[in-house]
Amino acid sequence: MLKYICVLLISLSAVCYCQDSVTDGTELLLTFLTHRHGDRTPISSTVALSNDVEALEDATARYGYGQLTDNGRRRAYQLGQFLRRRYDGLLSPAYNRSEIYIRSTDSTRAKMTVLSAMAAVYPALEDNWSADVNWTPVPYTTVPAKYDFNLAAVNCPAALSITYDDTYPAELDQYTDVLNELSDISGFNASNLLIATQLYDVYVSQQSLGIPLDPRVEPIFPQLEAIAGIGWEYMFNSEMNLYDSGVLLNQFFTVADQIIAGEDVQRVQVYSAHDANVFSFEGVTRVVKRQGAPKYASMYALELRQVIETGEYVVVPVYLNTPSEDVITYLEITGCGSRCEYESFRSITADYILDEDTWRTKCGFTEDMEIDTSSID
Ligand SMILES: *[C@@H]1O[C@H](CO)[C@@H](O)[C@H](O)[C@H]1NC(C)=O
Ligand SMILES: *[C@@H]1O[C@H](CO)[C@@H](O)[C@H](O)[C@H]1NC(C)=O
Ligand SMILES: *[C@@H]1O[C@H](CO)[C@@H](O)[C@H](O)[C@H]1NC(C)=O
Repeated sequence: MLKYICVLLISLSAVCYCQDSVTDGTELLLTFLTHRHGDRTPISSTVALSNDVEALEDATARYGYGQLTDNGRRRAYQLGQFLRRRYDGLLSPAYNRSEIYIRSTDSTRAKMTVLSAMAAVYPALEDNWSADVNWTPVPYTTVPAKYDFNLAAVNCPAALSITYDDTYPAELDQYTDVLNELSDISGFNASNLLIATQLYDVYVSQQSLGIPLDPRVEPIFPQLEAIAGIGWEYMFNSEMNLYDSGVLLNQFFTVADQIIAGEDVQRVQVYSAHDANVFSFEGVTRVVKRQGAPKYASMYALELRQVIETGEYVVVPVYLNTPSEDVITYLEITGCGSRCEYESFRSITADYILDEDTWRTKCGFTEDMEIDTSSID
């Protein structure tokens, strides 16, 4: 009878993991994360979608298009504060290259974001290098855009030529009225899902710059946000996920394998990148439900943990919607829950694990091809 109760309790606890119990009884071995840059000015190609192009251009002028703003720096700093809080156990107070690997895309906003974040991860210590500079330099590495596996949107011709049919997800049907209204207000065809998604993007940057939305957009903004989430799902089908995050996933397994084998590798691995990276990484790790259009400085981490009692290795997917609120979500892996046994996780995601050479071949990469970096400059 006692045995029976035990089994019952164990199976009950397996189904009702509450937020905090996901990591109970585990030791954190590695966090492997990608995050979006902080708030930015609009990308030049989207400015025309705004209801107040002139004010938006004025507010953008001091930064340039697609650049991190002051709000963006603050949000990035909050991301760093979050990282310090959550991963304090893996990081010494002072920067130590053996503990943290930091890589940014070669995009000004991603690089500036990670610099701001690291200022919070490594605040100046009492025993510091300067009497009057209250800041510690923390280096990151980057890769030219043409060769960066995190920039498929720039350097992977196959990803750029994915074609979409006009069959939109059925859940969009409930928004027909909202889309019509948005078309009326904006003068653009919001029923085209890609345009609706761009409208959302430009409105978000506009709000961050303190320029009010059209008063008719305000009340339907939550619906537009939901529509943008549908747009992201539509664009980031399994093919796109593979091109955008297959190599990153492979990188996770490389590092996790090394750690399990007892090798010395950095236990905090940070990739400063873009909304596409966060969203497609959710895709290749096969989470049950992706978290919508990624917000500024949102973060998605795979934590490799070891269950103390059993020695079992598990992967815990952690999502930070915005560093401005200290609320994380433990995502669920399809068929494996929010604490997924390591080798099961590898089998479940196997179709999306791509080594870099195979990725380039699949992309149709050629050494002499021209790339357009205007979306990330
Ligand atoms: C840096 O971190 C490594 C790995 O944890 C450790 O072996 C080394 O002693 C640390 N170095 C310093 C100066 O703290
Ligand atoms: C940094 O060191 C200087 C002395 O060299 C000290 O005056 C200053 O307070 C230190 N900064 C912090 C944040 O402790
Ligand atoms: C707007 O876009 C939708 C979806 O692509 C299309 O079906 C519709 O014909 C377009 N409307 C106009 C007026 O172009």
